[in-house]
Amino acid sequence: MIVGVLNQKGGVGKTTIAVNLAAHWARAGRRVLLVDADPQGSSLAWSSARERDPLFPVVGMAKPSLHRDLPALARNYDLVVIDGAPRVNELARSAILASDIVLIPVQPSPYDVWAAADIVQLVGEAQGFKPGLRAAFVINRKIAKTAIGRDVSAILDSFPLPVLDAALRQRVIYAESAAQGLSVPEVQPRGEAAREIAALAKGIADLHLQREAA
Ligand SMILES: Nc1ncnc2c1ncn2[C@@H]1O[C@H](COP(=O)(O)OP(=O)(O)O)[C@@H](O)[C@H]1O
Ligand SMILES: [Mg+2]
Repeated sequence: MIVGVLNQKGGVGKTTIAVNLAAHWARAGRRVLLVDADPQGSSLAWSSARERDPLFPVVGMAKPSLHRDLPALARNYDLVVIDGAPRVNELARSAILASDIVLIPVQPSPYDVWAAADIVQLVGEAQGFKPGLRAAFVINRKIAKTAIGRDVSAILDSFPLPVLDAALRQRVIYAESAAQGLSVPEVQPRGEAAREIAALAKGIADLHLQREAA
């Protein structure tokens, strides 16, 4: 399965989610590859900051031929996670075409929801050639005891894509762990952040099962 964590908007949590999902699956014994499709190379920087043994390899493939180059490499892995690029539509299109499932992080802010129209349109276009492609939103940086998360889910309902039940809260552990090239499942395996990453992984696996059944 190839999971693209994509959104042309920067700062929504693509790298955070990609790294933590990859770590979750690697710790569960799956063979995982993390593909850094962002020319800024944030996932590569994350792996360079790491002093511990790697949990999974990270390769840089920020090029518009990703969808042609990745399948051969992906065969050697159970799961490939793509950390997507901001802005450039050319790269986003290729990353969407390379994916079985596109996960679109959005923060609980109307600006993020409005900006999501771009990626939703590209996914819709790609589904024209790739009908099995599935996509869903994941809300990131939800703040406890606020209604905005719920409000944003309501606005996202106007898009033709589902919103996963599993959301990620705003938590310092995401930034703190990343600074050392670590992930929340490693730093606090029984913590709440690791639990929300596990719930997200489960939501993605369920989407994949629906896709196989369709
Ligand atoms: N759930 C979260 N809680 C706290 N900080 C977060 C969370 N998700 C992302 N961040 C922080 O927000 C910033 C942007 O996230 P990042 O994953 O780099 O986004 P993107 O890859 O979409 O540009 C980073 O500093 C990251 O540590
Ligand atoms: Mg990033």
